[in-house]
Amino acid sequence: MTAATFRREPGAPTSLDDMTGLTPLVSTTMCPEPQHVFTKLREEYGPVAPVELEPGINGWLVLGYQEVLTVARQEQAFAADPVNWSVNRDDRLAPDSRIRAMMTPYDNAFFTDGERHRRLRAPIDAGLGRIDQRQLRRAVAALCTDVIADFVGRGEADLVADYAAIIPVLSMADVFGLDAAQGRALYKGLLELYSWEGDAAAAYGRVVGLIAEAVAARRTAPTQDLTSFLTEHPDLHSDAEIYDTMLLLIVGANENAINWISQTLRLMLTDARFGGRLRGGRLGVDDALDEVLWRDPPFTNVAARYALKDMELGGQSIRRGDALILGLAAANADPRIHTGGGTSAEVGNRAHVSWSAGPHSCPARLPARLIVRTAVETALHRLPGVRLAIPAEEVAPVDSAWTRGPAALPVRFTPVQQFGSDQP
Ligand code: HEM
Repeated sequence: MTAATFRREPGAPTSLDDMTGLTPLVSTTMCPEPQHVFTKLREEYGPVAPVELEPGINGWLVLGYQEVLTVARQEQAFAADPVNWSVNRDDRLAPDSRIRAMMTPYDNAFFTDGERHRRLRAPIDAGLGRIDQRQLRRAVAALCTDVIADFVGRGEADLVADYAAIIPVLSMADVFGLDAAQGRALYKGLLELYSWEGDAAAAYGRVVGLIAEAVAARRTAPTQDLTSFLTEHPDLHSDAEIYDTMLLLIVGANENAINWISQTLRLMLTDARFGGRLRGGRLGVDDALDEVLWRDPPFTNVAARYALKDMELGGQSIRRGDALILGLAAANADPRIHTGGGTSAEVGNRAHVSWSAGPHSCPARLPARLIVRTAVETALHRLPGVRLAIPAEEVAPVDSAWTRGPAALPVRFTPVQQFGSDQP
């Protein structure tokens, strides 16, 4: 059956919930060659394919570039608020479901629609727009150097756990005007929150406690930082809205920027085109950043949009209450938008959908690129002779259905003794 002719056969299951034997969504993030999975899904179903989100829970993966734009842009037909998902209406998610965090309602911009979304989003756009780019670059370079100082004498490190995982949250802490100790405490709190071990509610309480402390301090003594800006913003109507907005900015930065840093470092350490002038490489850090956005977007699959009415999309019958996952990596690789050469031929072209599109598209493109570029440049500059310690094909992906970053990036380099170091 070809994509163009695919229709459910008479007698075939008519609802998403009735379909069995579907491709698990994690196979688009955790397999060695996601492009093969996209191709297979496209051949079988076309630009919109049914997938298993977790055992017993199905959704649509939107694979087509045009279809992703349609779903992301039309909020009258596709809501971001998970309250509209039939699975939530019927209370079918298990308490320990791994997809719960991304697919249950929260009171922040990411999970709201319409007027409420616009009100919660306005302070985010205005606050991020006020960031002084030069000052942020200097601050991020300094904290990258600090983090590297912890391991530069060892001659080996895991550039994910020891570096990429730390930089985005410390950078956002700086934007919020938190000091180094508060930034480290925030990082520790987020680690606990996402560890899937221990008491998540207690970890959440500790993170919000840090944020609440900063808000209370700015009320007494206002400053020029993002915490003060959000605390005073007339569109945020309660402490809870201020805390949730700050948390959304920290969490939004965290996963995505971690993966962008580690994917770019991996590419630059393994691909001769990026090897630097001495080793004959022609392309620079910005080229590597763009290539990662095309080929391995940090937010591989965005959860989610929920159909507000029955409709047809990409040849599929979508029912009201169905979940649609925005397949950003798949859409970037849509053969209908490439004229040959594949996604690696896209140097200088930024028409990918890695920031999504429509009202929820990422508000932080500029600061995100600045943080990630600074982190990549500082690591390459400060770790002499840095090289991957394992074969490139042995780099394993993180355990997630939403992203495809490396779980670890073990490297070796020439150890550098720090002035004042107590190491022999
Ligand atoms: C400083 C770093 C970052 C911050 C503070 C940040 C913040 C945010 C926020 C607040 C939202 C929610 C917007 C809304 O729902 O209206 C968002 C959405 C999004 N972000 Fe970012 N982000 C950062 C980095 C990144 C990176 C590196 C990527 C990947 C290239 C990315 C991809 C996305 C995507 C795809 C969405 C849209 C999801 C959707 O359509 O529902 N973000 N980000």
